[in-house]
Amino acid sequence: LAIDASAQSGRKIPDTLFGIFFEEINHAGAGGIWAELVDNRGFEAGGQNTPSDFSPWVIIGNETTVLAGTDRTSPFKRNPVALRVQANCDGNGCPSTCVGVYNPGFWGMNIEHGKGYELILYVKSLDSINITVSLTTSDGLQTLATSNIVASASDVSNWIKVQLELFAIGSAPNGRLQLTTRKKGVFWLDQVSLMPIDTYMGHGFRKDLVSMLADLKPRFIRFPGGCYVEGERLWNAFRWTASIGPWEERPGHFGDVWNYWTDDGLGYFEFLQLAEDLGASPVWVINNGISHRDSVKTTNISPWVQDTLNSIEFARGDSNSTWGSIRASMGHPEPFQLNYMAIGNENCGMNFYRENYLKFYYAIKEAYPDIKLITNCDGSRRTLDHPADYYDFHTYTSARNMFRQKDYFNSASKSGPKAFVSEYAVTDSSAGTGSLLASLGEAAFLIGLENNSDIVEMASYAPLFVNANDRRWNPDAIVFNSAQMYGTPSYWMQHFFKESSGATLNPTWILPDLSSQLAASAVTWKSSDHASYLKIKIVNIGSDSVNLKILVSGLTHTINSLSSSTTILTSSNAMDENSFLNPTKVVPQKSVLTDANTEMDVVISPHSLISFD
Ligand code: AHR
Repeated sequence: LAIDASAQSGRKIPDTLFGIFFEEINHAGAGGIWAELVDNRGFEAGGQNTPSDFSPWVIIGNETTVLAGTDRTSPFKRNPVALRVQANCDGNGCPSTCVGVYNPGFWGMNIEHGKGYELILYVKSLDSINITVSLTTSDGLQTLATSNIVASASDVSNWIKVQLELFAIGSAPNGRLQLTTRKKGVFWLDQVSLMPIDTYMGHGFRKDLVSMLADLKPRFIRFPGGCYVEGERLWNAFRWTASIGPWEERPGHFGDVWNYWTDDGLGYFEFLQLAEDLGASPVWVINNGISHRDSVKTTNISPWVQDTLNSIEFARGDSNSTWGSIRASMGHPEPFQLNYMAIGNENCGMNFYRENYLKFYYAIKEAYPDIKLITNCDGSRRTLDHPADYYDFHTYTSARNMFRQKDYFNSASKSGPKAFVSEYAVTDSSAGTGSLLASLGEAAFLIGLENNSDIVEMASYAPLFVNANDRRWNPDAIVFNSAQMYGTPSYWMQHFFKESSGATLNPTWILPDLSSQLAASAVTWKSSDHASYLKIKIVNIGSDSVNLKILVSGLTHTINSLSSSTTILTSSNAMDENSFLNPTKVVPQKSVLTDANTEMDVVISPHSLISFD
């Protein structure tokens, strides 16, 4: 393997090359990175016709002691459903146990000893109330935190907001929130929220999961989908206006592609906030009037275009503008840096896509000429018939094929829009539920993207997250449940690329007869303290080890073998995976590279991704 590390032969890799794609799929957001512990907090998930199904809430008590059901008495206009609880206790209170309701969260609430939880709820009653709020184990038998809501009839005759902090004195990874009483009477509940106090940067995100994203140093975050943006039907698609403003007033919606309800606590504002917190450029994917099964005619599309312009004003307008003022009222007076937008998702060729696209394109470019726009139509093999800054490219295939696709962009057009590989992953049986083999095919593909980064400017793996209790898509980069998480090899593979964006790509040559088994690239960069770094990455997707001589020419600095290292992602079997029981079976292993030099004889293990740093 020969590497020319001279300054004059290098080419700068775009600053944006590697980022992430977050979709609300597999409960990635609701019951995932959004730290809200209550599922169906507004009782709206069963629809606005009442009485409705208010699961996963469960009644505590039996038919004679308690009657609970939804009605339309909510104080919030856009989400009219509330829960009415009638405690049929005798004059001395309920017999031996309390009655009420509990919420199990998203397959259990992670209650941790020593941590604080903020409870907010809305309540009203015709009578005085005495409601016990408690965090308990999954069977309700052990109380981990408790508090009482006591109020006179006059205090609660109209809806009141109750806000209190619960401090856990015990742990339960699958705990629940109980609201119970021993007092006869009727009370109503609405918008019951329980959040851990400690969230990522205090912005409501689950710390452990978002830290895993931050560790990837993503340069952009594409959101909120994917098919989630489209919907099976337009009436179920994500609508940004319904996802902003006070959380209590958001109606929530049923995502009919991935088949679950979300309260939309994680809304457009929160996505922009997450991008900012990660230091990643937001890539806002909008629906241009097309779902999987219906579409808006171009003659009727103007309001949709206006809605999109409003979304940009919400992100970028000053705090006196109509939509910017709402952003400011939500705690972010400064504009967000929104510079990338995708018009639709996988809609090229669908009814009205191109015509609608043009309406959006010209309206956005006229108002915000600096925003880079991404078309759904693949321009890698043909010249597009419409203007765009980027074309979107998705690839889901086998590990072998993904490996071969490292060369796909070698023959893509150098003129015209740049490529945004916004979704790539190995998805056939070679992926298992996240195999080493899959990650090797993907690593080779990314090496190919580095080598073609004069054409490909952005790339992200898909999907990012799966709550193990609701696997709608397989595989995914990060697997989690209420309390645990691990990265699949595809997640760890991305760590090898985190210095690449903005670095210099140095030409590499590998013997042609090895190119069906090996892929390699080399990048150099300077750190903030002006030290120079060289990173050589090699993928061996074959089942034999390869003896390789690495020759580096053109270095202006001597190699500091004291600070050199090598990192390898491998395992004894190419189909090996991580799991909750063994979360670190396939993770990068770093060791000191004692003989680092411009000429090195190395052995590249079978089924491995290795870097020399
Ligand atoms: O990543 C999962 C899905 O794959 C996305 O929602 C969609 O864009 C693609 O078909």
